[in-house]
Amino acid sequence: MAFTPRVFSGIKPSGDLHLGNYLGAIRRFVPLQDTHETIYCVVDMHAITVWQDPEDLRRRTYEIAAAYIAAGLDPAKSIIFNQSKVMEHAELSWIFNCVARMGWMSRMTQFKDKAGENSENVSLGLFAYPSLMAADILLYKATGVPVGEDQKQHLELTRDIAKKFNHDFRKQISAAGFEGDFFPITETLATGPAMRVKSLKDGSKKMSKSAESDLSTIYMMDDADMIAKKIKRATTDAEALPSEAAGLAGRSEAENLAGIYAALSNQTVDQVLAEFGGKGWGAFKPALGELAVAVLSPIAEEMKRLVADRGEMDRILRDGADRARAIAQPVMEDVRNIVGFIR
Ligand code: TRP
Repeated sequence: MAFTPRVFSGIKPSGDLHLGNYLGAIRRFVPLQDTHETIYCVVDMHAITVWQDPEDLRRRTYEIAAAYIAAGLDPAKSIIFNQSKVMEHAELSWIFNCVARMGWMSRMTQFKDKAGENSENVSLGLFAYPSLMAADILLYKATGVPVGEDQKQHLELTRDIAKKFNHDFRKQISAAGFEGDFFPITETLATGPAMRVKSLKDGSKKMSKSAESDLSTIYMMDDADMIAKKIKRATTDAEALPSEAAGLAGRSEAENLAGIYAALSNQTVDQVLAEFGGKGWGAFKPALGELAVAVLSPIAEEMKRLVADRGEMDRILRDGADRARAIAQPVMEDVRNIVGFIR
């Protein structure tokens, strides 16, 4: 039997989708459909580890699923669903809560950053977040996860949980008829040069949905005028663009805008600078604005069309959840048996 490697990734519906989500994640999911078995989730259970207004949560869940499809994921090829529809995620995460150690969880830098000074008053779910993420991945025995640098530590934890489970239940795993490990050791999947989109107002910060300035983030649902306006007002230095990428060193805002142009036009930064080197921002910004609108507007239009068709979206998500469950249920049956639950 040919082995098709399985990929899992997810996006949290906790903020409106922006250019960083598109270039850094969604767009990179698309080509994997042709080489891997692909499962793309909207991780609504992760979103509620911090407060979410229920109406916003629902709207964003549909929007992310719509963005997946509008950006080129084919629901006939990829499994597209929202996490809470497949209850095995919660079930496996509980078992992983009993495998993972407090010390491992306490070292998670994303938790420490998010909890900040307020660690007494964050949800227990936020602390357990990485254990649920490990369950997302291992429930499907996924071997590759396309995510950015910021998720590296969570993937390491996923491997630690898999290894400890494989080790602690070695006897039962082999008695259940498995040769070797039960859970695979999942790797980060590199999908070409990473595009780390930065804030339009501060080149040292990630573009994010929680940015202080409304002008720092291009949202996927922004209209053409808004996109052009945000790019026009983007912070830059006063110098002209260099003629090759090396000249961007120490110019984080310039580097970000040139990088966005390159990513949106499927070119290298050097190719972009071969065209714009020596030119000023007055020439570059309108060109970038036009390019961004040309790429993003058709996707936004398709997203709007899809989210307006609730019946169609529900059908797609139900079908995705059914296919996800068909993989998850037998794995969960094995897990229950291995840990000693009576069925
Ligand atoms: N933690 C991821 C993020 O913040 C989202 C996520 C949840 C995820 N479960 C996952 C990503 C499983 C990859 C695989 O981006």
